[in-house]
Amino acid sequence: MGAFRLLYDDMKLLGSNLLPAPLLALGVALTACYPKAGPAPQALSADSAARASTRIAGATPQSLAAGHELFIANCSRCHSYPDLASISEKEWPGIAASMSKKAGIAAPGNDQLLQFILAARSEQGAP
Ligand code: HEC
Repeated sequence: MGAFRLLYDDMKLLGSNLLPAPLLALGVALTACYPKAGPAPQALSADSAARASTRIAGATPQSLAAGHELFIANCSRCHSYPDLASISEKEWPGIAASMSKKAGIAAPGNDQLLQFILAARSEQGAP
């Protein structure tokens, strides 16, 4: 009985040490593929929407406002809001397309979302 007891205690010890390992691994994996989190972006001011409309293909103050609504409603459902400025203007179209798909946002919403992201990140001072 003594030996069994020892074995049991060992297993308990082993269990308590090893159990968190898979959870830890999962946490590391999610962190690795997840972008930096950022604050919920504000709607664009009339001025910045007008500026963005001349610079971003297809953007209008209306489409940018719709893109903001879509972003706020969808982009913290599965993870925190991403930091817009930490992802480059070149990378965003591909990521926004795949995230629109995940979020179930079809045309024209996917275009409006991307237009808003690009406009908002420049407003945040990103190059
Ligand atoms: C439209 C709003 C929206 C934006 C913007 C958004 N997400 Fe994601 N997002 C993920 C998952 C899962 C990942 C991890 C990478 C992957 O699977 O593509 C991710 C990763 C990301 C990344 C990092 C991608 C990279 O390559 O670095 C960004 C940026 C991002 N999401 C932005 C699930 C979601 C879901 C869940 C249905 C929704 C909704 C969602 N995401 C909505 C959004």
